[in-house]
Amino acid sequence: MGRIGRTLFRLLLQQNKLTHLVAVNDIMPKENLIYLLQYDSIRGLLNAEIVSTEKGLAVNGHEIFFSSEPKIENINWKDRGIHTIIEATGLFTLLQDATKHFVNNPTRVLLTTFSQDIPVTVWGVNHLSGKTLPIISPGDCTINCVAPVLKTIQTHYPIQSLHINVIQGYTTRQELIDGAYKGLRRGRAAAHSIIPFEVNITPVLEKIFPSLSNKINSLSTRVPVACGALAELSVALDAPTSVNQIHSIFEQASKNELKNITTITYDPIVSSDILNNRHSGVIDGLLTSVTNGRYVRLLAWFDNEWGYCHRLFDWLQNI
Ligand SMILES: NC(=O)c1ccc[n+]([C@@H]2O[C@H](COP(=O)([O-])OP(=O)(O)OC[C@H]3O[C@@H](n4cnc5c(N)ncnc54)[C@H](OP(=O)(O)O)[C@@H]3O)[C@@H](O)[C@H]2O)c1
Repeated sequence: MGRIGRTLFRLLLQQNKLTHLVAVNDIMPKENLIYLLQYDSIRGLLNAEIVSTEKGLAVNGHEIFFSSEPKIENINWKDRGIHTIIEATGLFTLLQDATKHFVNNPTRVLLTTFSQDIPVTVWGVNHLSGKTLPIISPGDCTINCVAPVLKTIQTHYPIQSLHINVIQGYTTRQELIDGAYKGLRRGRAAAHSIIPFEVNITPVLEKIFPSLSNKINSLSTRVPVACGALAELSVALDAPTSVNQIHSIFEQASKNELKNITTITYDPIVSSDILNNRHSGVIDGLLTSVTNGRYVRLLAWFDNEWGYCHRLFDWLQNI
């Protein structure tokens, strides 16, 4: 029940689906969780009554069981008839760890990021191949923004090479003030600096798009905002194009195969305008450029929490 767990909680509430949430497990004390569900610096005050109960917490009268077990194998949800477990700690993404959830007999485990050793299936890109997998590795917010854009470009043009820079708000996997961190730059004060660091989305994208192997480079640039992100894709094509052609491709896709996943705006937005947007990516039509007919620069905004949780919601409705 970190940022993603609590954002998904709010989305379930908004969509009148919270009654499907029967149990949560987090290492933070229950009172702390209730407080963080009620008061959220990005999403505002929760529009629901939430109280502590003997077994957990009740939201508008719907009771949710709460446990606080740091080890998956000690979580006892066996008699709760659970269909799906959402593994949202970000810690147990390897097959051997995520598999431990099956001690509670769910039909599915849904991760909230990508895994090193479970095939990544992205909604709107290759999700059909993931629907029957016992553990679903849906990629992270960046992959979910970038992969549908890449798939659409690739459908129309051969891609020669690609650079991705994701300009993104800070997360709990950085330090608030300077401190020790194994990725050194992640240990620098998150709200004080522009912090570039390597991201590991390249191998994930290469697995989704084998024809792009050795053609992708990626970087993440963390900036002092608490939420909201902008992915910049610089793509070298093997065929000529124009800004109008690129836009018309995405306008079509946003009404068809990428409906509710990727869209395009011609408004002069900034990152705070993307908050609470449901899409995985919103292409900024004012910033697209094509140089020499073959070098395309595309920028796509995304709410790394809310947009991503909509994709988790898509998974939950379809598995
Ligand atoms: N934030 C985003 O924008 C975003 C977007 C897409 C995907 N993701 C992915 O989603 C995952 C979670 O990210 P997040 O931003 O939500 O992180 P987060 O806010 O740090 O949430 C992780 C939660 O897991 C809890 N936790 C830690 N160890 C635990 C354990 N052993 N058992 C049970 N709970 C435990 C943490 O508790 P404490 O706080 O008490 O340590 C925290 O509440 C990551 O893999 C991330 O890459 C994040």
